[in-house]
Amino acid sequence: MNNFTYYNPVKIVFGKGMIAELNTLISSDVKVMLTFGGGSIKKNGVYEQVRAALAGHALIEFGGIEANPRYETCMKAAAQAKAEGVGFLLAVGGGSVLDATKFIAVAALYGKGDPWEIMEGRKPVQAALPLGSVLTLPATGSEMNTFAVISRDSTGEKLAFGSPHCYPKFSILDPEVTFSLPMRQVENGIIDTFAHVMEQYLCDEGSAPLTERMAEAVLKTLVEEAPKVKADPDDYAVRASLMWCATVGLNGSLGCGVAVQDWATHMIGHELTALYGIDHGRTLAVIMPAVHRHEIRRKQKRLAQYAARVWHITQGDAAARAAQAIDKTEAFFRSVGVPTRLGDYGISEAEAGQKVAERLAKRGVMIGEFGDLGPKEVREIVALAK
Ligand code: NZQ
Ligand code: ZN
Repeated sequence: MNNFTYYNPVKIVFGKGMIAELNTLISSDVKVMLTFGGGSIKKNGVYEQVRAALAGHALIEFGGIEANPRYETCMKAAAQAKAEGVGFLLAVGGGSVLDATKFIAVAALYGKGDPWEIMEGRKPVQAALPLGSVLTLPATGSEMNTFAVISRDSTGEKLAFGSPHCYPKFSILDPEVTFSLPMRQVENGIIDTFAHVMEQYLCDEGSAPLTERMAEAVLKTLVEEAPKVKADPDDYAVRASLMWCATVGLNGSLGCGVAVQDWATHMIGHELTALYGIDHGRTLAVIMPAVHRHEIRRKQKRLAQYAARVWHITQGDAAARAAQAIDKTEAFFRSVGVPTRLGDYGISEAEAGQKVAERLAKRGVMIGEFGDLGPKEVREIVALAK
């Protein structure tokens, strides 16, 4: 086990009817800015629940945050928050709204310069407005982590940052609000969660036995729940289970004691979203099996463990079990309803590989758990996603 420090201060308020708790979670002394997306919360009753819970609070709104939130939109919200003396940001939506709100929280208190410097890793985050969330889409784990992913129109970039200043003070997780999700978003959330766990779990380096078992528990739960949510989208127990999986998938607990993490799939996936507009979760379904096939030798031991513990594959040597496990993973993604090949999107793997490799190289980014995968390997990986 590697040394680690684990600190996660996010209060999770989970279950039916819990949006009413907002009243006690946010002080009535501060002005609140409610941030939201393209309007789903106004159609499914979430907006009314939030307004009712905060009836006694001074509240302003900023709506229209896009999926894959844009820097330009966040800067408008930050200017409004500053001008109106907002003291607390309440994000109500999916990962995009939560991520945008983290960036708004930083930008609203940013001194001189352009807060994009933070996305480029050129400046650390010094401060952020306090924020909380009402999560409506289980997928990213943003509700219980420090990360945010923001896209910038003028440069076509999609970059991530993280800071302990950006932990939500609380996140309300009411599984009932997920009933209104289009099935495509439910599918995206399952794949995103699965990928978050795998990025932390699937490296041969070192061992953290309990953390590995916890990761396998999330993976197994996803495998069990996915067909259930497809068969009966109105099953509360399944929705609740998926919601908690997504949060645990990326709240830091699955990184405890882990020697190295991968994140190659996410790095390539973000570029595919920036280039082709494919939903985040869907890019991962295309790229993750390709990364694992490319790296099968260096990940063989853990892949064989994953094969046995998640898929009950015990026949054959470690190499054969590892290969079967990758096939199983890809078949699982397809069973969820998500395409796993670039061809399914009419995208040429050679062109995509070239573009992704160039974009990462331009930023000097090397990927994989050892940071040794460069443009050549990126092209090879993308080629495997044909
Ligand atoms: O905008 P509205 O109208 O709210 O509609 C949204 C949006 O169109 C809709 N939706 C959300 N909750 C709903 C609902 N529709 C009906 N009923 C509900 N209850 O779903 C659509 C997609 O929402 P979005 O927030 O974009 O999806 P998701 O949660 O998958 O977030 C994706 C973003 O998170 C980033 C991704 O890169 C992407 O930008 N990520 C953030 C991470 C983090 N902060 O840790 C890690 C992830 O790996 C990921 O990169
Ligand atoms: Zn993700």
